Amino acid sequence: MTDFRIRLLRIAHGRLLLHLTSLLHSRRWNRRWAGVRRQLHKIRCVDDVKDLQMLIISTAIPHPMKQNVVSWGGQCQFAIIISLLISTSVFSAEKSPTRERVSLNSGWRFTKGDPDVIGDQLSYANIKDWILPTGSALTKEVAVAAIKRPVGNPVSEIAYAQTDFDDSQWRLLNLPHDWAISGPFKQEYPGETGKLEWWGVGWYRKHLELAVADAGRKIYLDVDGAMSYATVWLNGQCVGGWPYGYASWRVDLTPFVKFGADNVLAIRLDNPKESSRWYPGAGIYRNVWLVKNAPVHVSHWGTFISTPAVSEQAATVKIALNVDNDTDADATVTAKSEIFELKADGSKGKSVAARTMARIKIDANQSSLGEDQIVVKHPRLWSIERPQRYVAVTSIEQDGKIVDRHETPFGIRTIQFTATNGFFLNGKRVPLQGVCDHHDLGALGSAINARALERQVELLKGMGCNAIRTSHNPPAPELLEACDRLGMLVMDEAFDCWKKGKNKNDYSQLFADWHEQDLRALVRRDRNHPCVILWSIGNEVPDQETPEGPQIAVELTRIVHSEDPTRLVTSGCDKISSGYNDFHKGVDVFGYNYKPFEYAKFHTTNPTQPLYGSETASAISSRGEYFFPVSEDKDAGKADFQMSSYDLYAPPWATTPDTEFRGQDKNPFVAGEFVWTGFDYLGEPTPYNQDLTILSNFSDPKEMQRMKGQLAQLGKIKSPARSSYFGILDLAGFPKDRYYLYQSRWRPDFPMAHILPHWNWPERAGQITPVHVYSSGDSAELFLNEKSLGLKKKDPHEYRMRWDDVVYEPGELKVIAYKNGKPWATDSIKTTGPAAKLMLEPDRNKITADGQDLSFVTVTVADKNERLVPRSKNHIQFAVEGPGEIIAVDNGDATSFEPFQANGRNAFNGKALVIIRSQPCVAGSILLKASSPGLDSAESTINSTMSVQ
Ligand code: GAL
Repeated sequence: MTDFRIRLLRIAHGRLLLHLTSLLHSRRWNRRWAGVRRQLHKIRCVDDVKDLQMLIISTAIPHPMKQNVVSWGGQCQFAIIISLLISTSVFSAEKSPTRERVSLNSGWRFTKGDPDVIGDQLSYANIKDWILPTGSALTKEVAVAAIKRPVGNPVSEIAYAQTDFDDSQWRLLNLPHDWAISGPFKQEYPGETGKLEWWGVGWYRKHLELAVADAGRKIYLDVDGAMSYATVWLNGQCVGGWPYGYASWRVDLTPFVKFGADNVLAIRLDNPKESSRWYPGAGIYRNVWLVKNAPVHVSHWGTFISTPAVSEQAATVKIALNVDNDTDADATVTAKSEIFELKADGSKGKSVAARTMARIKIDANQSSLGEDQIVVKHPRLWSIERPQRYVAVTSIEQDGKIVDRHETPFGIRTIQFTATNGFFLNGKRVPLQGVCDHHDLGALGSAINARALERQVELLKGMGCNAIRTSHNPPAPELLEACDRLGMLVMDEAFDCWKKGKNKNDYSQLFADWHEQDLRALVRRDRNHPCVILWSIGNEVPDQETPEGPQIAVELTRIVHSEDPTRLVTSGCDKISSGYNDFHKGVDVFGYNYKPFEYAKFHTTNPTQPLYGSETASAISSRGEYFFPVSEDKDAGKADFQMSSYDLYAPPWATTPDTEFRGQDKNPFVAGEFVWTGFDYLGEPTPYNQDLTILSNFSDPKEMQRMKGQLAQLGKIKSPARSSYFGILDLAGFPKDRYYLYQSRWRPDFPMAHILPHWNWPERAGQITPVHVYSSGDSAELFLNEKSLGLKKKDPHEYRMRWDDVVYEPGELKVIAYKNGKPWATDSIKTTGPAAKLMLEPDRNKITADGQDLSFVTVTVADKNERLVPRSKNHIQFAVEGPGEIIAVDNGDATSFEPFQANGRNAFNGKALVIIRSQPCVAGSILLKASSPGLDSAESTINSTMSVQ
């Protein structure tokens, strides 16, 4: 069953509970059922339903002497009916006789650190033999595949893993969870860490009940991602684990399960210091699932759907199917696949084709592959504009009985990279207008949330972005689901380094033992997503320049192709030499990081190899900050640990956006670019990465003096910057000026114009204050207080219009942009009055009451005419009433050490963000109030409903 259908059923179930709640609130039932009512409010949609059923039944069977027989009978009847309803609406929905996949996210206990006595007994080096076998199904290396779990346990009787360990003092929480995001920020930590403490050990425990009826089934734990070096125990027995924190993986719990009894899962994570160049987060930060299968079943990630022939009339859909036979007898099965259209909401549409495959024979305890082709007539192609999806429902029949039913969402489309003319989707050239993004979700940390990911994709699409590079690691499955659904191309990346590392304890420590398993896991997991157009085996790997590098590239590319022959392989390269030293021959499509000046030479030297900008620009800016005089030196633009937003500044290895545009336009064979980055991210606060003792970093003399004092005292100061400045959008998801520069290029048919800087410069009266305009038009006239400052044209290879000698006077700046001589778009900014009021704008005022859905509310500090007051930093306090909670706040300031998990926030240049989450199964109006001393407060209502958004 698809996640979406499960969600729908949960919502249907939620409706039922709502109905129940109102019944229980009625006067007749009121006092007696108060306990049930309370429990009902606490319920997280599915997992607590069993307890609720017990409570309902026990409440309904009272002390008979005290009860009036009629009422007792009525209540009992009521209880039984409701209880049955709950059973049928939830359990029959989630439980199919064949395959079950249930969320294991709720009700975990968590603590940091190991028990004292452990020392380093559980270090990876000491327990590797127990962990390696977990990946054996993902390696073709006979020696590695043959490694078996040693007998016994790595550390006998490790207390935290034992069934009877009392974990009641540990923190109770639900996954996904990032233990580091709540801080506190510490200035002394290196910039790359995000100044949050994500390193160290963390333990999670959860009780699981498995029914007697499940005996004979295979029971798996599927982890979408845990940071990092995970080791899993079930009932005190070490089951296995997985070191790479970005990988999705499975452990087989079956040998250690107690059916009809309580089982205890324990997971230990261990993040080494100096293992990441950015904030990786910490904890079980993605979803976790319990999967139950019949012993003969579709293997893990066992389907691969490709479309070898596509035309308007028909598409050939090839289904490759791997089936496991986990019994001691040979088996023969038939597999029937039926293809349905998938609607935008994820539900199934009409059936478009079906076919039964030839019989598949599977030896005892082996797997077998079956293949077949189905023709879909008049296919609706997946594209960026119309992302039509299909789903293949595959039923496995053994001895006349369906033993497994598996669903594979996919899309029908063609992709092609050419050396001479870039990238083609469905036969049409599509320039890659991409961004690179890290996995953290700003104030939410690395704990994934499907709506937060969806919002990112939506914001990027608004800019005309059509591709995301998952730099530099496998993404959350939910990101790919959103990209499939919304029409966003993806370059799916595996590693940031290979054999030669970038950080002492990074992936280079794992590469030898794990690269094959990690790479196969990534490709097998993601190869059915139509959004994925390119596999990346690495980013700026230092092996580009080692003698072994080209061979490693060949080996990794071979692994990818053996899992997916339909897509090409790339690697992001920062060394010019890698385009000529044979490293480039190890990949199909060559990607240069920050080398627009090298495109022509690469193409001349390698005329048959497709080329694109795998990482481009790396401009740095802080939303709403502008420093003067405006310098053309890309190393300038720094003050107050912020970066000027004239979009002219970049680190030494990087370029401005305009320089890359020029490189692309002068070399049209280049397939496009992936800008570093779409969103700001935690860690890597270039150019303030290092300890800074430079007083010229301060623009305010008073601040400079204060720092001088501190310096004298401390001998040095550490940079307060804790997140990056690279984003086109800031950490809170607010567009910086650059958003409009990219929009002007990437959405040429969308009439838009954008003026910068803001126009509140009382201290600059009479001084030169340059004005830049980004527009999809080709010329523009600027007016200051209705006086024309002249018409400017975009010359060839120019991407912005500039009025560099504007003398500041308060009032209104207005631009009229033209295209082909006709008025096209306008923008205007006015000098504002003082801050007078707050304004609230939720991105959605209707959300689903599932305990996961979010509304991102923008808070604006405005003057009395509702104009954003550019440099305002007012402190704002928030309060919520109704069935919702504030889960994080932010403002996009890369130097703020205010906690993200709080009910208040300073505005940063006029804006702050509040993230509201619904409560599970409790519908109603969520009222958000915002207040700040001296300002009119604001309120906004978000409806949390049981209906699907
Ligand atoms: C690149 C690197 C990225 C990021 C970026 C910052 O060289 O691949 O991960 O560090 O620089 O400009």
